[in-house]
Amino acid sequence: MARAAIILAAGMGTRMKSALPKVMHRIAGRPILGHVIEAARGAGVERVVVVTAPQHGDVRAYTASQGAQSVIQDKQLGTGHAAKCAESLLKDFRGIVVVGYGDMPLTTSATLEASFAAREESGMAIVAFESQSKAYGRVLRERDDTLDRIVEYKDADANERKVTLCNAGIMAADAHAFFRWAARLKNENAQGEYYLTDIPSFAKAEGLRCAIVEAEEAEMMGVNSRGELAACEAVMQQRLRSKALAGGVGMVAPETVFLSHDTVLEADVSVEPFVVFGPGVTVHSHAVIRAFSHLEGAEVGEGALVGPYARLRPGAKLEENVHIGNFVEVKNARIEKGVKANHLAYLGDARVGAGSNIGAGTITCNYDGFDKHHTEIGANVFIGSNSALVAPVKVNDGAYVGAGSVVTKEVAKDSLAVERSEQREISGWAEKFRNRKKTEKAQRENKQRGEK
Ligand code: UD1
Ligand code: CA
Repeated sequence: MARAAIILAAGMGTRMKSALPKVMHRIAGRPILGHVIEAARGAGVERVVVVTAPQHGDVRAYTASQGAQSVIQDKQLGTGHAAKCAESLLKDFRGIVVVGYGDMPLTTSATLEASFAAREESGMAIVAFESQSKAYGRVLRERDDTLDRIVEYKDADANERKVTLCNAGIMAADAHAFFRWAARLKNENAQGEYYLTDIPSFAKAEGLRCAIVEAEEAEMMGVNSRGELAACEAVMQQRLRSKALAGGVGMVAPETVFLSHDTVLEADVSVEPFVVFGPGVTVHSHAVIRAFSHLEGAEVGEGALVGPYARLRPGAKLEENVHIGNFVEVKNARIEKGVKANHLAYLGDARVGAGSNIGAGTITCNYDGFDKHHTEIGANVFIGSNSALVAPVKVNDGAYVGAGSVVTKEVAKDSLAVERSEQREISGWAEKFRNRKKTEKAQRENKQRGEK
């Protein structure tokens, strides 16, 4: 049966103390909301509707960029009211709907899948977990372990408050029936809100049972504050590291390596301690990323050596066996097979042909204050240390550039370009200079003694 998801994200997230809507804060390089959408897709959900606050245009723009739809909840009248807002888009949808919160980035597809499966058997399903926290609604069971009802902590009596099975906020039901029930919600409770948690009682009144799917508390962590954001990040990093290790990546100190949700590290890649992978990085087999490197939007070819202390920025593409050494920055540049740039260089908006050697201190001067320009370096070129290549400029195959040159004109194939003044030599100058300075100093000191 077709599957849809309603993701509630109209909350203000005031405890984040941020101008950015809560669900747009990033975990492993992706907005929290993106993780939730991804989990839904992983559970076979085709249609995703995100419920947003009127002022959160950026949440709607992001939702659209993820191929999902959004609706606006004008006033925050409660979780049940929020879910009902999705009806305008899902009126004609025939299938199963799962409702979840946009601020729970750790929920897995497997748990959502389990809620769909349990719904099939019982008619409805909710997800619950064991917790001592007072923040959650209490899940009360029937004798047959299906749901009796959910009671919010604020509405619960002393006995109900002792229950440790808590409501995660995820529920699965037939979409058509769900909106029929949502229409009947009332706000007669401690908070004066329309509670999503009252839905199962309508299902039960129609003779359906509501299954309880139990999940790990760690999966149900929500983000309400910066501290909780950091805690979720830590769990996500652990998951990503474990996945990388299981896939054959070598890491001696995985706890110091930071990955993005989309980092691709092939088997037999080695990552030394304290490396940060921003979004959009792929590293092919047998490459070694040495300590303290920072990579983002980059591709690293097989057998390449990067770092220590290297920086690869978006559009950096290193082919096989390239060496990028310490304090070398590469941006929007194709560095072809076997190129070596081992120390202190900036290669931006460039191509460096196979087998070329880039000396220490080489800079591609790509920016004139207004526009960016391209530097083209052929194959087997040798760029001497401390050279500035003023783009747009081209150095053809097999050419040499002498150290310390400022190259502004095209360099022909197999020739040498040197741009610096000729070296002069004055023999004996240094010795004369030292003698003069020593004499002057001695005279000064004698004079001072005389004055005392
Ligand atoms: C809710 C549940 C509680 C559960 C807990 C799990 C209800 C009544 N209670 O409580 O049983 O244990 O989540 O975290 O459902 N939202 C809207 N519009 C609204 C209100 C909320 O979009 O009008 C969104 C929020 O952005 C948030 C989510 O719904 O993502 C949950 O809302 P919140 O107010 O945090 O619910 P809780 O009181 O925590
Ligand atoms: Ca909450």
